[in-house]
Amino acid sequence: MKINKKSIKGTIEETQNLAYEISNNISGGHLILLNGEMGSGKTQFVKFLCENLDVMNIVSSPSFLILNKYQTRKKFDIFHFDFYRLQDTRDLVEIGFFEILESNDALVIIEWADMFRELFLNKKNIIDIYFNFIKDNINLREITVTR
Ligand SMILES: Nc1ncnc2c1ncn2[C@@H]1O[C@H](COP(=O)(O)OP(=O)(O)O)[C@@H](O)[C@H]1O
Ligand SMILES: [Mg+2]
Repeated sequence: MKINKKSIKGTIEETQNLAYEISNNISGGHLILLNGEMGSGKTQFVKFLCENLDVMNIVSSPSFLILNKYQTRKKFDIFHFDFYRLQDTRDLVEIGFFEILESNDALVIIEWADMFRELFLNKKNIIDIYFNFIKDNINLREITVTR
């Protein structure tokens, strides 16, 4: 398996460029796992990604709902999860998480994925993205992508 690692350190424009680049190299069946502290830019990244995938809906943080679904003009839909408030993975069953995870017509994006990393042990096509604050500059983030 080919492993690609890329790291950027920059302003919101660089975050946008990175999101656009990744959105040009994904499809249904891919799984994007986002990790990093509150406010580090996970949801912002999803907004940029969706923007470049012609998503019609409004992209927002699914913290309170756990799941947002977006339709694209591509051959796949986007399922945007946020595990922050999730206590028990059994709660994922009723929202159809496990079927969505196996679907090739779904691009799955999960904020705070490492809280339940064991869910993805046998998954292929994972893109791991870590967000970090940069000391003394609120406009910069370090973002590391591994795929
Ligand atoms: N370089 C940057 N990259 C991404 N977001 C940034 C950057 N600089 C400032 N921000 C801001 O940081 C905030 C990140 O919030 P959000 O994406 O909701 O975080 P999270 O989902 O990780 O809790 C947004 O308001 C965004 O505009
Ligand atoms: Mg968020």
